[in-house]
Amino acid sequence: MASPLASTGGAEVLVASNRGPVSYEVRAADPAGALHVKRGGGGLVSGLSAIGPDANAVWVCAALGDGDREAVRRAAGGRLPAADTGGQQVRMLDIDADVFSDAYNGVANSVLWFVHHMLYQTPLEPVFDAEFRRRWASYQAYNRAFAEALAEEAGEGAVVVVQDYHLALAPRMLRRLRPDLRIGHFSHTPWAPPDYFRLLPDDIAAELLSGILGADHAAFLTRRWADAFVDCCHAVLGPGIPSSSDTRIGVHGLGADADFLRKRAHEPDVDERMRALREEIGGADRRTIVRVDRTELSKNIVRGLLAYRQLLDDHPEWRERVVHVAFAYPSRQDLAVYRDYTAEVQRVADEINSAYGTAGWTPVVLHVKDDFARSLAAYRLADVALVNPIRDGMNLVAKEIPVVSDEGCALVLSREAGAYEELGEDAVVVNPYDIGGTAEALARALAMPAGERAERCKRLAAAATALPPAAWFLEQLGALGG
Ligand code: G6P
Repeated sequence: MASPLASTGGAEVLVASNRGPVSYEVRAADPAGALHVKRGGGGLVSGLSAIGPDANAVWVCAALGDGDREAVRRAAGGRLPAADTGGQQVRMLDIDADVFSDAYNGVANSVLWFVHHMLYQTPLEPVFDAEFRRRWASYQAYNRAFAEALAEEAGEGAVVVVQDYHLALAPRMLRRLRPDLRIGHFSHTPWAPPDYFRLLPDDIAAELLSGILGADHAAFLTRRWADAFVDCCHAVLGPGIPSSSDTRIGVHGLGADADFLRKRAHEPDVDERMRALREEIGGADRRTIVRVDRTELSKNIVRGLLAYRQLLDDHPEWRERVVHVAFAYPSRQDLAVYRDYTAEVQRVADEINSAYGTAGWTPVVLHVKDDFARSLAAYRLADVALVNPIRDGMNLVAKEIPVVSDEGCALVLSREAGAYEELGEDAVVVNPYDIGGTAEALARALAMPAGERAERCKRLAAAATALPPAAWFLEQLGALGG
């Protein structure tokens, strides 16, 4: 066991995640090599702001691309300039690019993500061979880099909240370096059931579980994923684990940020995009079925399109009277399987448009360029929200659309999304693999009387905002006595 380190930093609260709150781009056209900084949103960013500027908090994250790496090289000790981060203390780690790529693409996104979302086509994959073992060593090195940086930055007895599947090994590594710390781990993904989790080689399955059990508190988005984690511990580590370990299991269901969303959704750029979208939809009385996703394999966009086509076949009365507004934004394009999936989404949408479209009606309006203001415009216009993932940790879109929609929307929701636990009662629930069932759910949602739709939507919005990001983050800290 490594010998415990004395604290050299003074942070009282630390967050660790792969993707940080800022990213940098090198502007090729700029002769001075200026870096362009972009600040991200999301639950952690607004959560951290809840602890106030006086709290001594440090966010440790990885450099993801060349711009980030350059920014780290220019920054003293990897601490990014406060002007770039809005005053937040951010330490970005310049992990060797090949090690990073093996850990992020080769293990986290190609293996752990696939296991937890059950995405493998098992006759041919996964294959755990020598190449995988090489990548696994990178995943270990990447986790070690985080553990060492956290150990350096943390003050005596500090609270550290480690986020997600990229960093499953870091809690135990950190515990060894700094037994004084209070460590939490939070999983933003689903957790696989034991039979599926055990596709992983036994030693690696055990290392992942033990890595998380190095934390004092292991937390999940829903009870279902927490239970699956405990079941995996029983199956892989033995029936007494985790109850005989010191790790407590928690559930914190991240909700939507109503104040931010409602305000942002009424700014002029959103109004402008609503006008443009209305034009694309055409016909003042046309209904909309809206979906907004990263083009992510687990989001089930293709089956959503197939269900919409089935709706047009089974209920021809909806032809010309409905438009499927589908936003599928680029994600993880370094992985070939994501590029292929993106092409398939485009192909099926085109096919529907050429088979069913008429001079005045485009059945599917597909956009693939990320535009947050346009997403909010679609949220406001939604009559029906379609959220049909194969499997999803939570799915915040299911929570956001009911909060923002102008007239109140009906929600067609997969029972495999974490959000189902909180929203299932007022949604029209689907099995995401069942095209016919999803088509019928869409028909039911479209035909839902306006009064019922508005009532349900009000209850959906209330449930969706029960634990906004700031409160969610404070709960993680509270569970560690922070
Ligand atoms: C989604 C998941 C998170 C994950 C993130 C990573 O938001 O819910 O669990 O951390 O994707 O996405 P990235 O684009 O950084 O690979």
